Amino acid sequence: MKAYTGTVARNYERDRVKEAIWHMEQLYMRNLVSSWPRGASVLDVPVGSGRFLPIYREFGIEATGIDASPEMLAAARKKDERAALFTGNAEQINLPAKSVDYAVCWRLAHLVPPESLARIIPELMRVTRQRAIIQFFSLRRKKSALRSVLGPLVASLRGEPWAHIPNYEHETVDVERAICGAGANINRVELLPDRRYMPTVYVVACD
Ligand SMILES: C[S@@+](CC[C@H](N)C(=O)[O-])C[C@H]1O[C@@H](n2cnc3c(N)ncnc32)[C@H](O)[C@@H]1O
Repeated sequence: MKAYTGTVARNYERDRVKEAIWHMEQLYMRNLVSSWPRGASVLDVPVGSGRFLPIYREFGIEATGIDASPEMLAAARKKDERAALFTGNAEQINLPAKSVDYAVCWRLAHLVPPESLARIIPELMRVTRQRAIIQFFSLRRKKSALRSVLGPLVASLRGEPWAHIPNYEHETVDVERAICGAGANINRVELLPDRRYMPTVYVVACD
């Protein structure tokens, strides 16, 4: 994906740690991962700049990271030289069935159209033995027409570096149909307390 190359990739974390939501997400994941058994394995796709790699390392979780962008992976490698990091596509994960205990898919869904998400969700279920953690910024919610137009405009006026990145909204029903259609069950759905982005996390039981 072109959006995550060059200076965008190099400055990815520098630009995002300025937002409270970044730290809230880190805390959420740290709490979750701390409950996983030491020695468990996780696939993080897209691993991006490797924001969660130090957390996996801290709790003795064996991490594999996949991302479409070699430049994002280069940043991730600096976080944890021992993690297994590969370029790849979340729509067609190059791992055998049921080969990892956990999968984490964070901040990807809003970047891909519904037809891609419909391929990504079953792939996550296919490779995961226990739980898949899928984060969404953009499940469709009632938004005034004015807000839909003003949102991207305000982001670009604020100089937010992600203002140009496509932002797909997904229907809850499509997400849940893809999860259940892949034979998995939704364990819980959590809304992180951020009024602007309203990040939603699906914890899916794949066992
Ligand atoms: C917003 S970043 C999220 C990275 C990380 N999960 C996080 O929370 O910071 C999106 C990442 O998705 C990657 N990406 C986009 N489409 C992808 C795909 N189909 N398969 C794998 N990676 C993809 C991009 O290269 C980029 O690193």
